[in-house]
Amino acid sequence: MSSWKGIILAGGSGTRLAPLTTAISKQLLPVYDKPMIYYPLSTLLQIGIREVAIITTPDQQPLFKKLLSDGSQLGCHFEFFSQEKPAGLAEAFLITEEFIKGSPTCLILGDNIFYGNGLVDLAKEAMSSPAGATVFGYRVNDPERYGVVEFDKENRAVSIEEKPELPKSSYAIPGLYFYDEKVIQIAKSLTPSKRGELEITDVNKIYLAEGNLKVKVIERGVAWLDAGTFKSLLQAGSFIHAVQERQGLMVGSPEETAWTNKFINDEQLKKLAEPHNKNAYGRYLLNLVGKKDATH
Ligand code: G1P
Repeated sequence: MSSWKGIILAGGSGTRLAPLTTAISKQLLPVYDKPMIYYPLSTLLQIGIREVAIITTPDQQPLFKKLLSDGSQLGCHFEFFSQEKPAGLAEAFLITEEFIKGSPTCLILGDNIFYGNGLVDLAKEAMSSPAGATVFGYRVNDPERYGVVEFDKENRAVSIEEKPELPKSSYAIPGLYFYDEKVIQIAKSLTPSKRGELEITDVNKIYLAEGNLKVKVIERGVAWLDAGTFKSLLQAGSFIHAVQERQGLMVGSPEETAWTNKFINDEQLKKLAEPHNKNAYGRYLLNLVGKKDATH
């Protein structure tokens, strides 16, 4: 499993969130007590991916580097790449070609937030059989905003459409995708869509047509939020706040996840937490030191 590489796509112009995003990337905005990108990063660490390509816009890259460094502080390895223009999600594989070459790759979108252990199990299942591709289906109220997957009576995926006016099902495809090493060649074969982008949906359609796409339905116990509009950004922050307040456990902390997965030890965690010991985030992390995990 260790050969899996990760990509976080944190480019994009964020026009739907202007003026919030006029001076700063969407993925650096706060979702309650953390920058948005912490959540997808934690998801990758949770599923055991430690080598991560982070794609940003060229001008914001120094800010992402300041926030995340090279990953060694988390027992990981991060490399930074630039996407010049928002030319589509599938361009991620072309931009990071040298980094992911020869490895299966997990792509996660920088504004997608997942919560729930059910997802980790599904992801690990996908990673244990890397041939082909695995994507997920998640029931939503507004499928027309997303890539939509249609199933037949035997629950096999039969079609995938990007933002259809008349969705054939209520199942959106979240921004978490697992691909074998052929994805680079497939991305190279694409032509831009009507909105001028290399669509991830077109990648998935090719895997589907070849009979190599697995689509797993995410159970209702898992929360999937995207934080790409004013309303969904606020909802995501309120959700994280509510869960953390109730349980006294943190959601989406890369430091905690790295420590829980033993990428770093107590001493390393302490070093990361100490500069923040005046606030709840730092104190939470300091409190973990010496424990087995947060639930003890
Ligand atoms: C993108 C994908 C879409 C997917 C969604 C998940 O949409 O194109 O298939 O369902 O992310 O967040 P976009 O962010 O480009 O609107």
